[in-house]
Amino acid sequence: MSYDSKIQIHQSQVIIPQHKMPHLLVEQSLKLEGTAKLFGAKNATLVIIISLLLTKGKSTLFNVPALEDTFSIIQLMNHLGVHTEFDIDQNILEVDTTFVQNAQIPFEIMNKCRASFLVMGALLARFNKAEVGLPGGCVIGERPIDYHIKNFEKMGVVFNEEKDILSGSVKELKHRNLLLEYPSVGATENLVLAAVLTEGTTKIINAALEPEVFDFIQVLKKMGAHITIEAPATLCVTGVKELKAIEYSIMYDRLEAGALLLAGAITGGYIDIPQAPAHSMGLFLTKLQEMGHTILIGKNGTGVKIKASKRTHPVTIKTAPYPSFPTDLQAPMTAALVLTQGTSKIQETVFENRLMHIKELIKMGAQAEIENSVAIIRGVQELYGTTVIASDIRASCALVLAGLAAQGTTIVTGIHHWKRGYQNLEKKLQQLGARIDLYE
Ligand code: EPZ
Repeated sequence: MSYDSKIQIHQSQVIIPQHKMPHLLVEQSLKLEGTAKLFGAKNATLVIIISLLLTKGKSTLFNVPALEDTFSIIQLMNHLGVHTEFDIDQNILEVDTTFVQNAQIPFEIMNKCRASFLVMGALLARFNKAEVGLPGGCVIGERPIDYHIKNFEKMGVVFNEEKDILSGSVKELKHRNLLLEYPSVGATENLVLAAVLTEGTTKIINAALEPEVFDFIQVLKKMGAHITIEAPATLCVTGVKELKAIEYSIMYDRLEAGALLLAGAITGGYIDIPQAPAHSMGLFLTKLQEMGHTILIGKNGTGVKIKASKRTHPVTIKTAPYPSFPTDLQAPMTAALVLTQGTSKIQETVFENRLMHIKELIKMGAQAEIENSVAIIRGVQELYGTTVIASDIRASCALVLAGLAAQGTTIVTGIHHWKRGYQNLEKKLQQLGARIDLYE
């Protein structure tokens, strides 16, 4: 077992160089126990805030997670003249879209969060025009927007790009049958935003069916939109004249729930999450059971308890659009599989480069290799704390989970990802018995 050369092993303790850069310091913390609450789902929140641009008035959103991506979208809304008040202690966001100016949105604002590009559909619907800094890719993949662009063009939008600014304009959006070649979450949401005020019925065929997309659709219907679904995955959006301001409570975050359940699994603990939306976590919970853990689901599909098993079994996982195994739980699940006896396989099919946490887990003593987007993981008995780097939101979660199980101390850097995706998750883990601290 080769150890990281920078770290000296002295009997039972690992000396970690004091880190100047912001980091999470995680000590081995076994048998986490207790009850945890959830915040609202980040991947519903961001698009729902943007959808308020379709209304003229004061809306109130409850259960809004106070995390960096939320602040980035709020900044974007403020840039458009939208007045917001965010009570981060109560997770209540008030949004007044009475006055919205269709300002050009610079790259610096657009680039903070991928979901910013959803403003394109909303501004086209409200103003028939939008000018945005082109969203960049990120480490998990190039994150193209071709599905968005080609289908907006089918609705009559003309785009041009000059000095990294993408401008879209249209005399009047036209209802169309739009076929998505892949059930892209963002493309589905962007096209729905463009269609809800467009005369006639726009069909989005092969639409994304993620729970967060349906929470967004619930909000639009509450505003007065006409949206129905035709089997197997066609959204039918019949345009209305206007949409009204609303009050709405965002759905609980199945991805935060997954992270907490895996904290129980990897430390051999017992975790109760009464608000967990078990009905939208099906395959993930099934895989935890296949690994040998006891999973109890509350009445009417809300609430999950995990009692971790010492004797665990390997599993095979393939990520794909909902209701398949969610790509956003792939990295956290990988951390748990690293300590699961036997050989497990995880195939990432949604993003082209979302296995980078594997090399960091190998630094901690994991045995794994990657063959064409399939991670082959041979379970080990122990992991060892060291310094690791998070490459995206969900990788940061995987490395924290591994640190909870690893002997000694783990330093997780790249914590801006952690703060983008989770609100004070380290505090929730502390309340469950974890020794974890955030150093900014
Ligand atoms: C959303 O991203 C989520 N983000 C992601 O969560 C999530 O992983 C992803 O959906 C898949 O479920 C938010 O909701 C804010 P996609 P999105 O369009 O919309 C390709 C997290 O950690 N594609 O469904 O960007 C794309 O490259 C984040 O919370 C095109 O090729 O995902 C990817 O390979 C990460 N052309 C695949 O489709 C396009 O025009 C799925 O992307 C659009 C997408």
